[in-house]
Amino acid sequence: MSKIILAIETSCDDTSIAILDGEDVLSLKTHSQIEEHQKFGGVIPELASRLHSKTIFAIIELTLIDANMKLTDLEAIAFTIGPGLVNTLQIGAIVAKTLSSLLKIPVYGINHLESHIYSPFIGEKFSSIPKEAIFLLVSGGNTIIGIKNGHDLSTIGETRDDAVGEAFDKVAKILGYSYPGGPIIDAIFQTNKKTSFRAPVSNLPEFDFSYSGLKSAILKVYQEENDWTKEDLARGFQIAAITQLLNKIKLAYKKYNLSNIFVGGGVSANSLLRFKLEENEDYRVFVPKLNYSLDNAAMIGYLLQYKLAFNLIKPLDNLGVDVKPKLKLNE
Ligand code: KG4
Repeated sequence: MSKIILAIETSCDDTSIAILDGEDVLSLKTHSQIEEHQKFGGVIPELASRLHSKTIFAIIELTLIDANMKLTDLEAIAFTIGPGLVNTLQIGAIVAKTLSSLLKIPVYGINHLESHIYSPFIGEKFSSIPKEAIFLLVSGGNTIIGIKNGHDLSTIGETRDDAVGEAFDKVAKILGYSYPGGPIIDAIFQTNKKTSFRAPVSNLPEFDFSYSGLKSAILKVYQEENDWTKEDLARGFQIAAITQLLNKIKLAYKKYNLSNIFVGGGVSANSLLRFKLEENEDYRVFVPKLNYSLDNAAMIGYLLQYKLAFNLIKPLDNLGVDVKPKLKLNE
């Protein structure tokens, strides 16, 4: 029997609430705090938590109205328990546990990283999710490649320094663009098709990634006397950053002989990454719909529904507001 659940995501700078009935998303409402953080060039944790507490109840109300539900229709609550910013995670945890106490329904803590990996399937039957796959998680805080075997996710490689989304944000800052840099660099890439500028692609052995060398290379060229424009550097950076991801996917495909690839996280919105993955003829690629690429509560709710369907999760007690800011993928 599928349950009606409310999902809460507050791991960073998006206050996102969703209501799901089984696999179906009945409503998803997100308030992005980007404009408030932009003037500081990045996310300020204290400001983020204040903004979450200011908006979260209004967003819950909007989501309920949109789904045509009352609080008393809810049967369980999911919230992001980690990883993320401690102050912002705590806002979601307090609200989730308070609602759980008042409504006398169970509350569950969900791993944000794991939910990104299942995000390509939001809205689809759990039976359609391939049992074995290679997954790539690419966001502002993580660059992880691994293997899904049944319900188990194991990491085979990750970044040794910056995450790929972080590199997009840092390079955008170097070039004088605002935060977050990923969508801005991607938009420049799509309009500036002519440059012949090429940036170095890191080539660490096996499945480890590195992005700090690429960032430094862009900084160096930017500071030199030369004819390259900012747009040239942005396009060259995007090609090198995405090529590294594609190289690792190809290597994992060859080594593990798995023909399903799941890609999740903010950088999965990237146009070049999507185009190149869709163009390949070797493997089947599963990417989230664009509104499920970035942080959102639908993925938190969908993962809870998945875990409930396969009996993989237990409710938390609703005392305390423990969160896990440094939670790893397989914890
Ligand atoms: O998954 P996400 O919303 O937040 C977490 O980090 O958990 O990812 C945000 C990251 C930012 O670094 C942003 O610059 C990047 O995703 N991003 C993109 C694109 N859209 C967002 N990077 C490259 N191309 C994009 N189109």
